Amino acid sequence: MTDASTAPAVANIGVVGLAVMGSNLARNLASREGNTVAVFNRSRDKTDLLVSEHPEAEFVPAYSYEEFAATLAKPRTAIIMVKAGAATDAVITALTEVFEPGDIIVDGGNALFTDTIRREKAVRETGINFVGAGISGGEEGALTGPSIMPGGPDESWVTLGPILRSIAAVAPDGEPCVTHVGHDGAGHFVKMVHNGIEYADMQLIAEAYDLIRRGTGKTPAEIADVFAEWNTGELESYLIEITAEVLRQVDAATGQPLVDVILDQAGAKGTGAWTVQTALSLGVPVSGIAEATFARSLSSRPDQRAAGAALPGPDEEFEVADADAFIEDVRQALFASKIVAYSQGFDEIRAGAEQYGWSIDLAAISKIWRAGCIIRAQFLNRIADAYGEAPDQPLLMAAPYFADALSRGQAAWRRVVVAAAQAGIPSPAFSSSLAYYDGIRAERLPAALVQGQRDFFGAHTYKRIDKPGTFHTLWSGDRTEVEAEDTH
Ligand code: 6PG
Repeated sequence: MTDASTAPAVANIGVVGLAVMGSNLARNLASREGNTVAVFNRSRDKTDLLVSEHPEAEFVPAYSYEEFAATLAKPRTAIIMVKAGAATDAVITALTEVFEPGDIIVDGGNALFTDTIRREKAVRETGINFVGAGISGGEEGALTGPSIMPGGPDESWVTLGPILRSIAAVAPDGEPCVTHVGHDGAGHFVKMVHNGIEYADMQLIAEAYDLIRRGTGKTPAEIADVFAEWNTGELESYLIEITAEVLRQVDAATGQPLVDVILDQAGAKGTGAWTVQTALSLGVPVSGIAEATFARSLSSRPDQRAAGAALPGPDEEFEVADADAFIEDVRQALFASKIVAYSQGFDEIRAGAEQYGWSIDLAAISKIWRAGCIIRAQFLNRIADAYGEAPDQPLLMAAPYFADALSRGQAAWRRVVVAAAQAGIPSPAFSSSLAYYDGIRAERLPAALVQGQRDFFGAHTYKRIDKPGTFHTLWSGDRTEVEAEDTH
């Protein structure tokens, strides 16, 4: 073991936590010109394995935090890649003991943004910079180029920017998929919403598959061809691409399509739920993301599903008359619902930025999602254009390109939702997205009645359309209206 006090400070970046994501990120860093990478893991074996398996990376192994700090040139920069939660706190504490003011600690895990805000504040007290960075792209992305969403102080970006730019995915126009999102928890907030959109996208694709399968009787392999075809048009995206691959996969043990032998209970590590919880507290309707998250919860309640199986569905068999026309309707419904999911997700980012005082460039966010991340999709270019042209526009889906797509697709979207309802096929994300579309475009909503009800039972007051002020009706008296103080 090298003596910590004499270890040469040769590395410009270090990685703590060498499970698959950490190892792959370290290898990615090491493969870029100018980087020398220090690596450290709590258990020595993982460090030794990585170093011996990848001599080409010329890693600088460290076996204690002291030694890790000593091998890093100043300002020391370390990326933590451990399980979000207590493990992250433990590593941060250990690093702050061996780092110095001006050094940089980056948390590259899927941390809850409020934890990141808390950690940034605590670490700042020591003079060390703390950066919460969302990293998307899974194991493969970590190795070949992820989309990176760093928050943290401006000072850290001077050192960190070039390093992160060197390892990030590159968009088709040559731009690296990384930007300084905003201060403290901004990066992890944006990564959280990325994952919420990911949940919505996945659920919408799953509903499209289910409707096509049950409506046309096509096999998974045949539906794989449909998705492969869709991937050549406006739906082109990583998730559509991998859906075709998953549907084509045959189970080696049974010879069945793999999708038919996988238990139909979707897991979740929590980022979708965070997105919905945060949206609820910000008052932002992210109904597509919420339905997608709840759909996973519903799928994972076997006892309730067994009990629910006794409930009746529609009498008639579901069979569409024209399979090709139905598939085209589903494609349009999918695209329209996807527009809703992204529009809602970007609303949440804007609301979060307002609430937490971040200056977030929404066009820049859509650009860094164009490559490397799980929701990468061709139409993110359109979102970047829309926010580039009108950064303050109140509703993304009303921007010209999306309004036009929705106007072309809405009739098909309605046909699909009607067909699903009549056939008794659950399509929570399709139908809630359509309900949102109709809600947001409604000239008048029944919210007026809700206000009347609130005033009736709780004297919660209401406003009128024809004059300013706050009013209350004396429901239990002579039912006249009085002007009221808005204290409820
Ligand atoms: C990514 C992914 C990644 C992961 C999440 C979601 O951007 O690379 O979003 O972060 O897949 O953990 O996983 P769950 O579906 O298990 O919540």
